Amino acid sequence: MNPTTNIAVRAAREAGRVVMRYFNRIETLAITEKQTNDYVSEVDRAAEDAIIDTIRRAYPHHAILAEESGAHDGNEYQWIIDPLDGTTNYLHGLPQFSISIALQHRDELISAAVYDPVRDEMFTASRGNGALLNDRRLRVSDQKILKGALIGTGIPFRDQRYLDEYLGMLKAMVKDTAGIRRPGSAALDFCWLAAGRMDGFWELGLSAWDFAAGSLIVREAGGAVSDIRGGSRQLESGNVIAGNVRVHREMVQRLAPHVPEAMRF
Ligand code: IPD
Ligand code: CA
Ligand code: CA
Repeated sequence: MNPTTNIAVRAAREAGRVVMRYFNRIETLAITEKQTNDYVSEVDRAAEDAIIDTIRRAYPHHAILAEESGAHDGNEYQWIIDPLDGTTNYLHGLPQFSISIALQHRDELISAAVYDPVRDEMFTASRGNGALLNDRRLRVSDQKILKGALIGTGIPFRDQRYLDEYLGMLKAMVKDTAGIRRPGSAALDFCWLAAGRMDGFWELGLSAWDFAAGSLIVREAGGAVSDIRGGSRQLESGNVIAGNVRVHREMVQRLAPHVPEAMRF
C-alpha cells in the first residue's frame, strides 16, 4: 500500500473511533441544521479534527478540502475529506455511514480510504494498484445487462430543483432492473459497487467529498465513473453515474432523456 493510502487508513480509523464512541448516545449530541435537512453534529466536527490532525502530522504542506471546515491552502496535493458520510442515518441510529478520505494530485485521484466502522470494513485504493476491502482484492460485478441489475441511488432530500427529472430517472431504472436501493452513504454506495454488491449507481447534486474516494475505489476495481451525461465532469457537477462497465454504459443511455437542460454542458 502506498504511504499516502496508509495515512488515509490511519486517519479513517481515528475518525471511526470518534464516530463509534458517540453512536450509542446520540441523544446527548449537540446538533445544528446548516440548511434545510442538512444537519451537523459535534461528532462530524470531532471526526474531521482527528483526520486533519493525522494528515497534517504526516504531510504538513498538503492542501485540504474538508466538508465541515472548508478549504485549507497547501501545495498541489489536496486531501478531500468527509468525516461522516451518512449523518442523517447516524443521527437516527441507523447503522449505515462511513468516513471518506481521498488524495488528489493536481486533477488526479491517487489514494483513497472509505471506512465503515460498524462492520469494520476498510475499503482502499491506490492509483494503478487496484482496490481492497481489508486485505481482499475488489472487483466489480460481472452483471452483463441492466435487466436484472441491482442499482443504488440517492433520493434528493435537500435541493429539490430537479426532483421531477430525478423521478423520471427513477421510473426508467425501476422498470427493468432487479431493484433500487437507497442506503444513505454515497461513499459506501461506491464501495459496495466496487465489491460487486451492487451493479450500478447514480445520484444528482453530490459534493466532491461524498464520492472522490469512492470513485477511485470503483475505478481501481474495474468499474466506470462518469458525470450524468457520460462525460468526465462528475467531481465539478456532483451528478454521477457509476457501474461495472456494461451496466454503466446502459445507464448513461437510459438516463439521458431525463437529464435536465441545466445539466447539459
Ligand atoms: C450525504 C450522503 C447521502 C447522499 C447525500 C450526501 P452527508 O452525505 O452521502 O447518501 O445522498 O447527497 O450529502 O451529508 O451525510 O455527509
Ligand atoms: Ca457526505
Ligand atoms: Ca458528512
